[in-house]
Amino acid sequence: MKNTKNKQKTAIITGASDGIGAAFTKLLIKNDWQVVGISRSSSKLKIIKKNFSSNAQSFKYFSCDVQDFKKLKSIAKKIEVPDLLFLNAGIYSPVDSSKLNLDEYKKHLKINYLGVLNSYEAFLPGLISKQNGHIIIMSSVSGWIGLPKAAAYGPTKAALRSFAQSIRYDLNPKGIKVQLCSPGFVETQATSINNFYMPGLMNVNDAANLILKYMNTKKFEFSFPFSFSFFMKFFSLLPDKISSYLIKKFII
Ligand SMILES: NC(=O)c1ccc[n+]([C@@H]2O[C@H](COP(=O)([O-])OP(=O)(O)OC[C@H]3O[C@@H](n4cnc5c(N)ncnc54)[C@H](OP(=O)(O)O)[C@@H]3O)[C@@H](O)[C@H]2O)c1
Repeated sequence: MKNTKNKQKTAIITGASDGIGAAFTKLLIKNDWQVVGISRSSSKLKIIKKNFSSNAQSFKYFSCDVQDFKKLKSIAKKIEVPDLLFLNAGIYSPVDSSKLNLDEYKKHLKINYLGVLNSYEAFLPGLISKQNGHIIIMSSVSGWIGLPKAAAYGPTKAALRSFAQSIRYDLNPKGIKVQLCSPGFVETQATSINNFYMPGLMNVNDAANLILKYMNTKKFEFSFPFSFSFFMKFFSLLPDKISSYLIKKFII
């Protein structure tokens, strides 16, 4: 990764083609950031480039699966060391865990957890050499407590939470800020498959605005929408007998 003294802020966003990552990408471009977007399919990234990028520098993109560490490393060599690394790419499928789901469990682990590790390690050397930067890891309220149908998804988000909590002790002294984003329900392609009521379901642009707001604070973990995440946090702190009763009553 090349290091420059560019005054414009730069970001790498994984999962930039759709949902929260796309909304956040567009918001950063609007705020005069230079963004590098990464996702598997390039067609949606191309549309962002065409419709939202004001010049050649404001948005670059790479088609890459976050499972492909070699390709992520090759991208790192081609771009500037970013000010912000937003590790957001992820998948979500509800599962019935009374059935056999080994492939689904493994797929979630490989993309949601190992995909973040791949992206983290590909771009980390640049941040370390710069002794400056900011990493935001996308978790979820599902990482706080096991939720119905989330046996494939939730554990990956819990693992990311623990990962982010741990790495900050090594990275903060090297000038790198670490934050964990743990949203409730946001209206995207991922949640469109849910056939149950999603309390507090939030518009994706509102979610992007909140990420922008919280990334400028000292908070390690931030969550939204406020009321739903407050209740989920509260549930997670209760004795299991009470929290599982409340989850059955209000969420299933
Ligand atoms: N929506 C919610 O309610 C919610 C709540 C809490 C947390 N989250 C988290 O927020 C993140 C974004 O979710 P979303 O709702 O915005 O989902 P989304 O609309 O489905 O977008 C997911 C993004 O990730 C990319 N992606 C998926 N697999 C990838 C892979 N293997 N390699 C590279 N890119 C990949 C997708 O692009 P391609 O398919 O082209 O690769 C897409 O750009 C996820 O980590 C999700 O767990 C979402």
